[in-house]
Amino acid sequence: MFSTVGALYRHAVRLLHPTTGPEVDVSDLHLDLERPPPPGRPWVILNMVASVDGATTVKGLSGQLGGPGDRQVFRTLRGLADMILVGAGTVRAEGYRPPRSPDDSLASARAAAGQPVRPRLVVVSARLDLDPSAALFTERLPEDPPPLIATVRSAPLDRREALAEVADLIDLGRTRVDLTGLLAALGDIGARTVLCEGGPDLNHQLLAAGLVDELCLTISPNLVGGAGTTGPGLLSGGTFAVPSGLRLDRVLAHDDFLFCRYLVA
Ligand SMILES: NC(=O)c1ccc[n+]([C@@H]2O[C@H](COP(=O)([O-])OP(=O)(O)OC[C@H]3O[C@@H](n4cnc5c(N)ncnc54)[C@H](OP(=O)(O)O)[C@@H]3O)[C@@H](O)[C@H]2O)c1
Repeated sequence: MFSTVGALYRHAVRLLHPTTGPEVDVSDLHLDLERPPPPGRPWVILNMVASVDGATTVKGLSGQLGGPGDRQVFRTLRGLADMILVGAGTVRAEGYRPPRSPDDSLASARAAAGQPVRPRLVVVSARLDLDPSAALFTERLPEDPPPLIATVRSAPLDRREALAEVADLIDLGRTRVDLTGLLAALGDIGARTVLCEGGPDLNHQLLAAGLVDELCLTISPNLVGGAGTTGPGLLSGGTFAVPSGLRLDRVLAHDDFLFCRYLVA
């Protein structure tokens, strides 16, 4: 407690690192968290990694920003989710593949909750510039449903026909996918938790529309530089009329990485 006039300017700041805290199992920790679906849609988690100076890619890919702890968080969040939502730009850049089976404790929790063994991938695309012979489509296990592609009525017919062979397509808008409608539709087909893996274009729209409940941000111990030339940070798009408030729920550390879980106010 502070007792003088100076107290007005002094706040009880808490040291989180390198002190304290027990070692935790990331899967157990996340499995214990409450994620109640809001009315009319699933709970939406957004998971991203960014450098200390806010870059989300190095040479167009996020891989160099990651590390073992980050990959564990990534796998854990996938293991919790009913569906993984991703923009077509990220699918194209990162060469997406079908989601893998989660590790033991998550697999058991999924089975106990009646979730499918693996989350289903949902790609958002207007242009449908996706290769039907890509691993994302061809390496799917036969027992899993095909990826879902949320698209628009104006999508090119030839691309639509090619992708209809390997994916389920759903139209949700004329030129842009209505993301509120998409999340409602995912809820209707059983999703209670949706993990969004970016990228910045999709993130911006979801946050602008108030459709994100939780932001899991890995702060990667790197400086990338080149502001304005290395691509957007967590969000592309315009400035919000009012900044979107976040509540810091918890912070984990591994090596020099920080894993921050925020709840969207
Ligand atoms: N650091 C990280 O954690 C992280 C995570 C993810 C991605 N990234 C990086 O981010 C970059 C990609 O960023 P991005 O902003 O281009 O990607 P994005 O958000 O993944 O994809 C943008 C594309 O998604 C489709 N899309 C988004 N919203 C739509 C809507 N409402 N209706 C219809 N289509 C919609 C459009 O696809 P079409 O063009 O097909 O119409 C659009 O061009 C990559 O370099 C990737 O490596 C980094």
